[in-house]
Amino acid sequence: MKSILDNRPALAAEVNKVAEVAGYLWQKGWAERNGGNITVNITEHVDEEIKALPAISEVKQIGVTLPNLKGCYFYCKGTNKRMRDLARWPMQNGSIIRILDDCASYVIIADEPVMPTSELPSHLSVHNWFIETGKPYKASVHTHPIELVAMTHCKKFLEKDVATNLLWSMIPETKAFCPRGLGIIPYTLPGSNELAEATIRELGDYDVVMWEKHGVFAVDTDVMAAFDQIDVLNKSALIYIASKNMGFEPDGMSQEQMREMSVAFNLPK
Ligand code: 13P
Ligand code: ZN
Repeated sequence: MKSILDNRPALAAEVNKVAEVAGYLWQKGWAERNGGNITVNITEHVDEEIKALPAISEVKQIGVTLPNLKGCYFYCKGTNKRMRDLARWPMQNGSIIRILDDCASYVIIADEPVMPTSELPSHLSVHNWFIETGKPYKASVHTHPIELVAMTHCKKFLEKDVATNLLWSMIPETKAFCPRGLGIIPYTLPGSNELAEATIRELGDYDVVMWEKHGVFAVDTDVMAAFDQIDVLNKSALIYIASKNMGFEPDGMSQEQMREMSVAFNLPK
């Protein structure tokens, strides 16, 4: 079957990275059924031929107006599609959309009319904000990492930076590779505009935010880097839990050791 990825190696590489990450999410047990979603701003890979492609869907409303996304293109996981299927067939379990000139609606242009994720308002609002603030970020990943989600069922971990400091203190790499920490967003209805607005507010201070009792939302320059930030945080949660299971409260690195890390690695916090 013909695909928009044919003879477009740079675009194919981006979509294949999404497929690779989708496989990791499934293997880690973070992607039950259709759980999680990924979007990537692929506008830089769009040529004149793609711009001329006709819509293969009706015009759909985003639900919010996003002035910086006019004429942008995104690869989006399909709603109700499984990560484990997307890992093998990214263009049957996701699609490419074009944002229309009103900045409030979109059409699907390839390969098949697969409806984008129900979390599209959050994803697109975040991409709009990247452009507005000049951030070089292109990818957003939402997933349900078991141990990190479990932590949000305990009130003390919902207080500002309590979970961040605990997770950073479990192993030096976590602060080095998730240097802005984990933001917390109180429970909000999945797929809602309120959740999108809260996510943007929190991304001002963090690259990974936790939707309480639901999952994380991570952003970075590409999908692999966004995945890595979640992976290091969840690794720390696993070390914390392993210590508790061995019957003790882990000491954690000291504040002094963490400050030393920040200086050595030139970290923002
Ligand atoms: P979608 O299948 O619509 O992407 O939803 C999955 C999900 O995790 C919602 O939060
Ligand atoms: Zn979810």
